[in-house]
Amino acid sequence: MASRFGVVGCGYVGSAVATHLRSAGFELTGTVTNPARLGELCDLVDHPRIYKAGDQGSDHAFIDDLDGLLIAMAPTSSSFEEDQYQSVFGAGISDLVNGVQSRRSRKPLHVTYLSSAGVYGDQAGALCHEQTPPDETSSTNALLLEAERRILSLNTDDIQACVLRLGGIYGPGKDIASFIRSASGNLVPKNGSHINAWIHRDDIVRGVDFAFNKRLQGIFNLVDELQLSRRELSNALCDEEGLAPVIWENHDRPGARVFNARVSNSRLKEVGFTPRVSSMLESLPVA
Ligand SMILES: NC(=O)c1ccc[n+]([C@@H]2O[C@H](COP(=O)([O-])OP(=O)(O)OC[C@H]3O[C@@H](n4cnc5c(N)ncnc54)[C@H](OP(=O)(O)O)[C@@H]3O)[C@@H](O)[C@H]2O)c1
Repeated sequence: MASRFGVVGCGYVGSAVATHLRSAGFELTGTVTNPARLGELCDLVDHPRIYKAGDQGSDHAFIDDLDGLLIAMAPTSSSFEEDQYQSVFGAGISDLVNGVQSRRSRKPLHVTYLSSAGVYGDQAGALCHEQTPPDETSSTNALLLEAERRILSLNTDDIQACVLRLGGIYGPGKDIASFIRSASGNLVPKNGSHINAWIHRDDIVRGVDFAFNKRLQGIFNLVDELQLSRRELSNALCDEEGLAPVIWENHDRPGARVFNARVSNSRLKEVGFTPRVSSMLESLPVA
């Protein structure tokens, strides 16, 4: 019998994971919150569901028979607000974790949760690993870290759960390199000295597949090899095309959420996973 896999949040990443696993023979359940996306979802998965984690009385029955579950939710409304973040990563994750814990089946279930390497916050550009204390001072990071803890509390005899901390996502339809180049010659009101982390969408798909197959537990950074500051990255991208550099600030705006860390992917490499796309500068085709 085919393995049954569920994707909560068939957005940019979730849809790519669903497509990949379905073509690999999995029976797919997928969810979106927006009924207008149901037609699209019907083409993508075997069992489409409208599901909004955190909604009162939300039905978690779709989790009962799954072997694997990817949680790839993020706020998607165009009117982004702080409380929407809270509703997805606070109340939403809590509700979903309760739903997983109260599933009727006791068959083994593996859960992968997509978090963000942004939780390391301001490490003054230092190298950081999964053991590095993350930034609890930003309210957003505190919320994301609490969501990770809730997910990891699922680990029991019959449930294994892991957290993948992603860099900023680029890939098909998300051409971050072109976006950065489009700021050539302009001032961008962000600190150009800060180092960010990145990951290609197709390596996230491979990473989720790997996590399920290896039944990974715990926290893993899923980032590519690029450890450049915003300024170094934009200079490299603009130089390549003979463009004027992007102009960055050298300070943080008051209240801005800072991410400045060289995030290591060595833990995933140690367990056998290496990203295929080393950075957006290489833009290697993914086989
Ligand atoms: N984008 C980045 O650079 C980045 C960086 C680090 C980590 N991440 C993480 O990577 C994951 C995937 O990101 P993405 O770019 O694929 O996101 P996305 O395209 O915005 O998709 C998010 C999905 O979550 C669904 N959703 C929203 N609220 C929900 C709720 N309360 N309950 C259930 N589903 C809900 C949305 O439903 P609808 O389709 O109906 O709107 C959508 O399908 C997210 O967990 C995000 O936090 C992203």
